Order: sequence, then C-alpha cells, then structure tokens
Amino acid sequence: MDRRLLKSSLWFMVFFFIFFNLEGTAEGSYSRVLNPATLGLKKEKLTHFRVYWHDIVSGSNATAIRVAEAPTTNTSATGFGAVVVIDDPLTEGPELSSKHVGQAQGFYASASQKDVGLLMAMNFAFMEGKYNGSTITIMGRNHVFSQVREMPVIGGSGLFRFARGYAQARTHTFDLKTGDATVEYNVYVFHY
Ligand SMILES: *[C@@H]1O[C@H](CO)[C@@H](O)[C@H](O)[C@H]1NC(C)=O
Ligand SMILES: *[C@@H]1O[C@H](CO)[C@@H](O)[C@H](O)[C@H]1NC(C)=O
Ligand SMILES: *[C@@H]1O[C@H](CO)[C@@H](O)[C@H](O)[C@H]1NC(C)=O
Repeated sequence: MDRRLLKSSLWFMVFFFIFFNLEGTAEGSYSRVLNPATLGLKKEKLTHFRVYWHDIVSGSNATAIRVAEAPTTNTSATGFGAVVVIDDPLTEGPELSSKHVGQAQGFYASASQKDVGLLMAMNFAFMEGKYNGSTITIMGRNHVFSQVREMPVIGGSGLFRFARGYAQARTHTFDLKTGDATVEYNVYVFHY
C-alpha cells in the first residue's frame, strides 16, 4: 500500500478512536454503551426449576389474604374484582413439609368476567442454596381451570439479572372446602 495512504488511514483510525471514546464520557451524557464483560456477563444459560406453590387461604395461618374487592365481586360468578396478596411457600416437593426453597410474594387479581382468570404478579424469592437472595418475577394470565397455564417470566434479580422465560402452572391439589391449593410450577428461565 502507498505509504501516504497508510499514514493517513492510521491518523483516521486514531481520530476515530479518540472521538468515540470522548463520546462515551462527554459531559451531560447520562448513558453509555457497555461491553457485557464489564458486568461479568458471560454465556447465557437456561435453567429449569420445579417447585410447588402453596396457596393457603383458610385457617389462622393463611398465606393468601384478600385485600380488596368491588361492590359486585361477591355476586360475580368469577369473583371479578377481588385482589389477593400472597406470601406463599415454595417447596421442593408437593408436601408443605418438604424442603422449603423460597416464597412466592405478590398478588393475584380476578380479572376475567366470563371465566376464572387471574392476573398474577409475583416474585419467586429464593431462600435456599446458591439462589438464596435472588428473585424471578412472573407476571401473566392464570386461567385457573385450564390444565396448564403459561405465564411469562419478565425479569429477575441477583443470579437472575436479565432473566426471561416462562412458567407453566399445573394444579396438584385443590381443596374444594377450604379453597387451599398446591400448584406445580415449572419455570424455564434464561439468565447469566
Ligand atoms: C399456625 O402456626 C402456628 C405456629 O407455627 C402453629 O402453632 C399453629 O398450629 C398453626 N395453625 C394452623 C391452623 O395451622
Ligand atoms: C363479600 O363476602 C365476604 C365473605 O363473605 C365478606 O367478608 C365481605 O364483606 C363481602 N363484601 C361485600 C362488598 O359485600
Ligand atoms: C439465606 O440468606 C439469608 C440472608 O443472607 C440468611 O440469613 C439465611 O440463613 C440463608 N438461608 C439459607 C438456607 O442458606
């Protein structure tokens, strides 16, 4: 290559480099492009969790409490308008006495007038092993009388930063008398 051309293209590269570096730190700028490695992000992985979610609405140790309703909720066949706040235990097996792995905290609201359809908004707060302190956020529609209900995983914290995925819920037991339910949750989540 022509020496002159080489020299000028080198100068151009130096200029380009400086310009873009300055751009990143320019005064008044509140955002910058980051290399994911600076956050220690390596390869995204896929993890499957199977946990049992215990919704206890009866008795003195209820974990799900109705906090709001509409004047028409009690006459609605679907309980439309009810809002229930939950702090439901998550266990490894279907028995409440099996290994406790975390709590499902959040709420569900009866959001369908024609059938029993809930809006679920909850965090799976893990409290066991390496996931202790990390959370997964699930928000979606729970058509409770369907055999399998799918809800998006919309994010997470700790080991679940940048999480995305989905959860599938299957009712394991439902006590018609008390309204208590145990639901199997299979959660598939991409995270780093
Ligand atoms: C509620 O929890 C307390 C303390 O753990 C326990 O002694 C009591 O038996 C529980 N009550 C019911 C109805 O499960
Ligand atoms: C609906 O029913 C519940 C349980 O019977 C009762 O506590 C509540 O006051 C009722 N709400 C209205 C708005 O009637
Ligand atoms: C989970 O973390 C909390 C807070 O750091 C700690 O108190 C607790 O003992 C941990 N639980 C387990 C099962 O490791």
